[in-house]
Amino acid sequence: MESEFQYLSAIVPNEYYHDAAIFEKEKLALFQNSWIFIGMSMNLENHNDFLTDEIGGVSVVVQNFRGTLRAFHNVCTHRFNKIQNAKQGNRALICEYHGWNYNTDGIPFGIPLKAEFKGLDEPTLKKLCLKSFQVDTCGKFVFVNIDNNTQSLSDFLGDSKARLLQISQMIGRKIEYNEVPNAANWKVVIENTLEGYHISTVHPNTFYKLGFNLKSQMQCEIHGPHTNMTIQTGDLTPNMQREKFHKMIAKRPFQPDGFFHQLIFPNLSIGSAWGVTVYIGSIKALSPTESVFTYELYETNLGEGVLLNESISSMVNFSATEFTHTTLKEDRAICENVQRGIMQTPEHKGILNSIELRIWEFQKAYSKLMNIEL
Ligand code: FES
Ligand SMILES: [Fe+2]
Repeated sequence: MESEFQYLSAIVPNEYYHDAAIFEKEKLALFQNSWIFIGMSMNLENHNDFLTDEIGGVSVVVQNFRGTLRAFHNVCTHRFNKIQNAKQGNRALICEYHGWNYNTDGIPFGIPLKAEFKGLDEPTLKKLCLKSFQVDTCGKFVFVNIDNNTQSLSDFLGDSKARLLQISQMIGRKIEYNEVPNAANWKVVIENTLEGYHISTVHPNTFYKLGFNLKSQMQCEIHGPHTNMTIQTGDLTPNMQREKFHKMIAKRPFQPDGFFHQLIFPNLSIGSAWGVTVYIGSIKALSPTESVFTYELYETNLGEGVLLNESISSMVNFSATEFTHTTLKEDRAICENVQRGIMQTPEHKGILNSIELRIWEFQKAYSKLMNIEL
């Protein structure tokens, strides 16, 4: 789809990046109203595997019940303890406070001293069931929707589905899981991932050294609120060493010509350089001025079920971890600085160039849900 990018000015005013009332509105209008990525299906393969998250202020658990994934409000209906407390694990859906157990329909059973409760009959237990939410997958990506009346995941993803399926195919060994806190609004962090304009200035020892610079060509795809870009290196001469290495892993399923980044609106961020490794990250809003970037970093496979051999794997792991940590540290420092600047200029909006058009697209989708007049 062609972008309608034509404006110099960004759309979203700076006050939206720190205001407490706006933050509350986002919880309802955005996070509780969209399909939100909660994790990868590899973490939910076995009976009783679970993942938890807060979506728009609502604690959610996705649990595997003998092969079926269900999503529930993660709050016990007895006296409101949070049921699953780890981010992920393998454990029955049982409350740690007084031991109420929940079945695949979210109905409590196996209640200790049940006879001591008056009138805890079948119909009452059914009324005490956990609120359930929609859960669906695209390839290995698992999404939850708090609002049970919105469009299907497939319609929501639209033309971006093919990318998620392709990236699902490349997933090999997990290199690491990491959480990077940012003293910055979640949108500052998202917007930073959407452009390659800052690469030469912010990432001199990683992206820039690999050949990404202001001469780099960028291709964008805009699929509704979801966008991606592929940035090629600005080098005119081929990098023989890199090409030799890429030949050794020529069977990898995803081979973008440079650095690929995908945003699934609002906050799933995926990045891969040449399809050698991929990070799958989620930028979570903690408060109006704090967010956390959680991600899993994976090495590619060489076709279904074929992992990299050990020497290639350890080389890839070392450089991908170094690269990711360095860039995230640099991005974090910039985002935190930008946040301070934004708070001193609440009435302003940013200025965008054509390389930053994905920010414009992101803000357009955001504005629509938040009812900001364009
Ligand atoms: S609060 Fe969960 S069993 Fe009592
Ligand atoms: Fe960056």
